Amino acid sequence: MRRRFVSLIACAPLVLTTAGCGIFGSGGEDADLQVYSARHYDLEEAFADFTDDTGITVEFLYGEDAELLERLRSEGEDTPADLFMTVDAGMLWKAAEEGVLAPVESRAIETAVPRDLRDPEGRWAGLAMRARTLMYDPRTVDPADFDPVDSYAGLGDPQWEGRLCMRDETSSYVQSLVASLIDTQGREKALETVQGWVDNDVEIVSNDVELLETIAAGGCEVGITNHYYLARLLAEDPDLPVAPYWASQEGDGTHVNISGAGVVEGSDAAPEAQQLMEWLATEGQSDFVDDNHEYPVNPDVEPEDLIASFGEFDRMQVDAAAYGARNAEAVELLDEAGYR
Ligand SMILES: [Fe+2]
Repeated sequence: MRRRFVSLIACAPLVLTTAGCGIFGSGGEDADLQVYSARHYDLEEAFADFTDDTGITVEFLYGEDAELLERLRSEGEDTPADLFMTVDAGMLWKAAEEGVLAPVESRAIETAVPRDLRDPEGRWAGLAMRARTLMYDPRTVDPADFDPVDSYAGLGDPQWEGRLCMRDETSSYVQSLVASLIDTQGREKALETVQGWVDNDVEIVSNDVELLETIAAGGCEVGITNHYYLARLLAEDPDLPVAPYWASQEGDGTHVNISGAGVVEGSDAAPEAQQLMEWLATEGQSDFVDDNHEYPVNPDVEPEDLIASFGEFDRMQVDAAAYGARNAEAVELLDEAGYR
């Protein structure tokens, strides 16, 4: 992803169709809608189906959340973007705070998306949900040994010493998890939790897939990743020796985050951008979430079979404002705990 950013900023700010700049889309340069998206899973198909349904063509530009937000900021009123799509609730909150997202009033979104997964002022809405939970090696770990009340903090128990691996501290996934722990439990308890992992000699790896592969290879026994990475690996190899454990089911529930979107302030196609959001939250939900094995935000839509087989779970409430506003605090806490 870091490489992709390098190629992205190498592009002239307003050139959206240059080959080699990470630009892919269904509509070419004359598309009705331009989407800046940090979500890089299976957009082509969902957008093509939207075009089939509505006749509205879509082009999209990939990049990381923070880079795309920076680009929106620097392009200002001249931005060609109509919709901004991210993979982190905190980033949606930040974009709204900075005024780059326009409020929309939509009964369809209010009905389809649970209250905590959308902005009360209508500037963004979650469109897919991902759980960040414990992953373990069933050959060596008895899930009964996890703490069902606070499974994240429980990994600080001495029984897990030398057995843990975790994603590195630069990941927004890690930062939002810690921000949510600070918010729900207080800074002291959250610091204790992270400190517990560090004291257990946690091995830090650079991405979620590597973490799961390390477990499968016997390099560690327990870690924390987004659920869909396991689903992807299991789709390729159903015998992969890694299993999910739904964290904190007797406590606050499993930490979840969303990928979501908001209409860009000043868009000249705001009604169509809103229509795309509404479609993604309703008729297009399965299209949008299934191939990446994410959970629908819309409670009327069933998750696809593979993740349905992980079983149902209770989730923590999502507080995008906390994920966003406490991001700096989370980064600082990880540093203080020596998590690196
Ligand atoms: Fe991801």
